[in-house]
Amino acid sequence: TYVVTDACIKCKYMDCVEVCPVDCFYEGENMLVINPSECIDCGVCEPECPAEAILPDTESDLEKWLELNTKYSAEWPNITVKKDSPADADEHKGEEDKFDKYFS
Ligand code: SF4
Ligand code: F3S
Repeated sequence: TYVVTDACIKCKYMDCVEVCPVDCFYEGENMLVINPSECIDCGVCEPECPAEAILPDTESDLEKWLELNTKYSAEWPNITVKKDSPADADEHKGEEDKFDKYFS
């Protein structure tokens, strides 16, 4: 599966939503997550994210993000249509420690 990581937080560009063939993105206030049990591993979303927030869970140290994507995709609403990203999205692109600063 692919997972959304902290680079998405406060950026939410949502280009990923448009390309996913199985609509497996779920929307929280500050970020999106993927439902790992619905993701078909096509990889189409990975290069579409301007923040490079989407990674295959085969990369190292992504267990935390796999758990977070699994947990919140069960709680947050499904999103199938791209919306406007936050006005200050570009200011948060590449920012460090976004999870600790903003995720609640
Ligand atoms: Fe959707 Fe494919 Fe990305 Fe999985 S890898 S979230 S199926 S676009
Ligand atoms: Fe987030 Fe990137 Fe999608 S910033 S909303 S994972 S396009």
